[in-house]
Amino acid sequence: MRISVIGCGYLGAVHAAAMAELGHEVVGIDVDERKIAALAGGKPFFFEPGLPEILSSATASGRLRFSTDIAEAAEAEVHFLAVGTPQSAETGAADVSFVDAAFTALLPHLADGALVVGKSTVPVGTAGRLAEQLGSDAPSARLVWNPEFLREGFAVSDTLSPDRLVYGVAEGDDHAASVLDRLYRAAIEAGTPRIVTDYATAELVKVASNAFLATKISFINAMSQIAEATGADVTALADAMGHDDRIGRRFLNAGVGFGGGCLPKDIRGFIARADELGLGDTFAFLGEVDEINLRQRRRVVDLAVQDLDGSADGKRIAVLGVTFKPDSDDVRDSPALDIAVQLQGLGADVVITDPEGLDNARARVPGLASVPTTREALLGADLVILATEWREYRTLDPEAAGRLVGERRIIDGRNVLDPAAWRAAGWHYRGIGRS
Ligand code: UGA
Repeated sequence: MRISVIGCGYLGAVHAAAMAELGHEVVGIDVDERKIAALAGGKPFFFEPGLPEILSSATASGRLRFSTDIAEAAEAEVHFLAVGTPQSAETGAADVSFVDAAFTALLPHLADGALVVGKSTVPVGTAGRLAEQLGSDAPSARLVWNPEFLREGFAVSDTLSPDRLVYGVAEGDDHAASVLDRLYRAAIEAGTPRIVTDYATAELVKVASNAFLATKISFINAMSQIAEATGADVTALADAMGHDDRIGRRFLNAGVGFGGGCLPKDIRGFIARADELGLGDTFAFLGEVDEINLRQRRRVVDLAVQDLDGSADGKRIAVLGVTFKPDSDDVRDSPALDIAVQLQGLGADVVITDPEGLDNARARVPGLASVPTTREALLGADLVILATEWREYRTLDPEAAGRLVGERRIIDGRNVLDPAAWRAAGWHYRGIGRS
């Protein structure tokens, strides 16, 4: 099938490459010339395992091309809208101006009977509004809302083998679903569950899922605080709770909390939309989920000060990991970076390191000292904070690391180290909510 993907950020670039990998003919469109030049050359402008391979093979085969000119989308029968919906600074709401702009720019180029597929995470009600506009400006075209659930770090496999497909369609529109079925044939044949529903439900599935995941993480992080107050162990607690299938063990890892371009923004956007709909009280708990999450970062800073005998001033602190999670170079709303900045604000001599995220961290916070290797970061440190659980940090040898630091003190912000092994090597080890 001939496809266009409008917006080639983390989501769109992966989607375009994955659709080409499935055999479709794809053009990726973005207004950012730098991104388009990189992608056209077969090179992603961000780190995502598996993406370089499918991107270079698809661009080399000619099935995937990129352009800054939206007119190049004109021949496509299916157009994916994959532009960002950033958090607006004043209200916390999702800013849909890029979705509106992409949609409006696309309208004059729609072929007869074209299908517009919304992928962006939008406030509920957006698809209905766009469908109305389509009805008056391009009546032969259709709109379907098809939210994306990919996780950074697993984006390629999540796109090629999603855990579910959700189509939000206009009432009585069977055709839109059949077009998407053809497009996703491989996943459907592999048994991927497919839910065909209305626009509002499809929009809500996305934000409700992210809000639920955020709530789960904040729940266990709140538990980590009561564990600390009572001498309980939050990891054992999560393990035991997780054996109940109704609860499940995943997303019950206590630590520095959640970050990234999705969970924090999506709960704030959801709160703002619920407010507009007169449901502010009902969703006030999501404000608490956000607050618990931010409190975890402050908590780690407080623990660091405590471990440094009451003052971080002039102390050398090595922060291992700055991305919001491993296997990504994304530092958007990263708890790790936030903690580093807060400690620097307290006068600490902070040094950050990360396998993939240093360029982005430097661009965001130019004043932070950074070094490319763990070894350099550890040298002479008074305190080490493991802030993002990259494999390299999870597998650190406490004895070898101990020979590099000034003082054997570590805060395991992700509860991924073996406390007994670190203590046996003479470290003052502290996890989050671990006895
Ligand atoms: C999230 C969702 O998981 C995806 O399903 C969704 O498609 C995506 O947002 C999106 O909206 O585009 P992602 O942002 O890539 O994906 O990251 P997650 O794997 O969900 O992790 C989010 C944050 O939670 C990370 O900072 C991670 O370290 C933290 N986390 C996760 C915890 O602190 N504890 C856990 O137990 C799990």
